[in-house]
Amino acid sequence: MTRILAKRQLAPEVYLLEVEAPRIQKRWKPGMFIIIRPTDQSERIPLTIVDSSAERQSITMVIQAIGKTTKEAVALPVDGALADLVGPLGEAATMTTGKKVVCMAGGVGVAELLPVAKAFHDAGNHVTALCGARSDNYRILDEELKAGVDRLEWATDDGTFGFHGNVVQLLKSIAGPGDFEEGHVIGPIPMMKAAAEATRDWGLKLHASLNPIMIDGTGMCGGCRVTVGGEVKFACVDGPEFDAHLVDFDELTRRNRAYRDWEAKTMERHACRIGLDVR
Ligand code: FES
Repeated sequence: MTRILAKRQLAPEVYLLEVEAPRIQKRWKPGMFIIIRPTDQSERIPLTIVDSSAERQSITMVIQAIGKTTKEAVALPVDGALADLVGPLGEAATMTTGKKVVCMAGGVGVAELLPVAKAFHDAGNHVTALCGARSDNYRILDEELKAGVDRLEWATDDGTFGFHGNVVQLLKSIAGPGDFEEGHVIGPIPMMKAAAEATRDWGLKLHASLNPIMIDGTGMCGGCRVTVGGEVKFACVDGPEFDAHLVDFDELTRRNRAYRDWEAKTMERHACRIGLDVR
């Protein structure tokens, strides 16, 4: 059992959870992830490690409560416990030094971007972070990002804060070929695909942190299979980061949709059991 030390709501449906995890705290690197099961009846969900504290022997994760399992996770109380926590998993994000780096994220991907953007900055790169949210009140971790990078710009879908539009439109409005040498993108698949397409001829090495369905997280089940440059890879052990210009995003989209009907039925059953009107 993994004790929950703190919980904080960052935006509608988005929560930060700090849990006791001394061994993971010592070993994780930016870009790595964990797999949790909130209760012993829950499914497993992969989550990126956002931060850690040696003093509190803890790690921090950010959860968007949109499905049955994520809702179960954020419903757990402080001083309660997760049933399982496994990690750190995956490879650390690719780092470089002395370069002009752009880090892009959309939605809850902003939380996942934070440790990677900070690591690029701490390694001696000039880091521009471009972050997207639905609306001003969905922006998360603004202060932490400002403190961790050289330049931070926001895009909101409804124009209530920063650039009116999405992150890729923001990128194209402020930069062109040769302006950045290295990049990292994380977020919804259409956004990562658009970022890859927009920068294909920019001479920019762009890394995408992928989010396929995962089950065991150890390379055994095949659930997280992705195609990169025509080769089969497993995101949990070979990634989660890959060359964005080589990823088959259309296949990733199809595979992530495979369980959509089942997820909808599960949510409906869950809502019925806890007495919500789901009509
Ligand atoms: S989650 Fe099973 S192979 Fe990656």
